[in-house]
Amino acid sequence: MRLVEGPSGRKYTLAFQQSPTLIMPVSEAVGTHPYLRLLGIGLFGAVLCFLLTRNITKPIGRLLAAVSGIASGRFKTRVDPSVLRRHDEIGTLGRDFDRMAEQIEALVSAQRELLGDVSHELRSPLARMIVALGLLKHASPEEVSEYINRIGLEAERLDKMIGQFLTLTRIESGAELAQRETFDLTNLVQEVAADGDFEARAHKREVKIVRADSCRMSGLPEMLRSAIENVVRNAIRYTAEDTTVDMSLEQTNHNGAGEAFLRIRDHGPGVPRIMLANIFQPFQRVPEPNGTNSQGAGLGLAIADRVVRLHKGSIRALNATDGGLIVEIQLPIN
Ligand SMILES: Nc1ncnc2c1ncn2[C@@H]1O[C@H](COP(=O)(O)OP(=O)(O)OP(=O)(O)O)[C@@H](O)[C@H]1O
Ligand SMILES: [Mg+2]
Repeated sequence: MRLVEGPSGRKYTLAFQQSPTLIMPVSEAVGTHPYLRLLGIGLFGAVLCFLLTRNITKPIGRLLAAVSGIASGRFKTRVDPSVLRRHDEIGTLGRDFDRMAEQIEALVSAQRELLGDVSHELRSPLARMIVALGLLKHASPEEVSEYINRIGLEAERLDKMIGQFLTLTRIESGAELAQRETFDLTNLVQEVAADGDFEARAHKREVKIVRADSCRMSGLPEMLRSAIENVVRNAIRYTAEDTTVDMSLEQTNHNGAGEAFLRIRDHGPGVPRIMLANIFQPFQRVPEPNGTNSQGAGLGLAIADRVVRLHKGSIRALNATDGGLIVEIQLPIN
């Protein structure tokens, strides 16, 4: 707008409008022209949507790549670190996925290792059987019965080992827990002690109960019996002649929940400190002084450990300060 003066001296106000699209700055034009404003908003929205979508689809693509890696058997596959750094649900999903992948990898490698150990362990009695069979062919009549006995012994070992191994895998699947029942743990411990004592007395050893609080719990009594029996059997085997295996069952309170605390203690050589945790792994045995393995398969404590964990309890071994092994079992009670 401008004030001008005509030739006659009259004053005029001159008003003019510039074409908005050509001369006005774009920002001003968008502000004034309704269609352009819409177009601007639309464009801004489209760019925003594109960025937002890309922000979601890109990490999901990376998650998918990790999933297909695991699905095709590459258990070492992990999610791209850029996904793990995110602080949103996708980041959480990525971290959870990695944890799951780690679990699967550990499980698969443990199973492979176990299978390798099983094959190795089954081979030893089989190899001895084959040797005995070979010798049997050329044996004198007096030797025949010796070789047949050897074959029988090895067959029994194989049978026991396969039976124990089947128990181990059955517990692992947890299928048995459906048949849980409430039972008297004190009774069960007393029965195991009495059976053990009967066996021990034949070898100049004893099994004594030094304390037996009353405990009832829910679970699989027969499985627990065989778990405790495995520990007691070991103790009887290793305790020195004329010594006792002491058992105590205490009822304790842990964080307000009732717990049964079973201790089985022998007076034998104990277990080297670095092997205290390993003896609960399948086929782990402490080499005997003459360099050989024990007669057992090395599955007893692995079974006991799984049975106890199936009952939400814990088991551990420690050496007594004055010699001998102590096995402690904690079980939740009713
Ligand atoms: N009370 C103990 N004293 C000393 N060593 C023990 C004792 N209990 C277990 N061990 C060691 O731990 C190993 C593992 O025990 P575990 O019961 O699993 O197997 P095992 O007795 O050799 O065989 P299995 O029980 O399968 O017949 C044993 O071989 C032995 O070396
Ligand atoms: Mg054993």
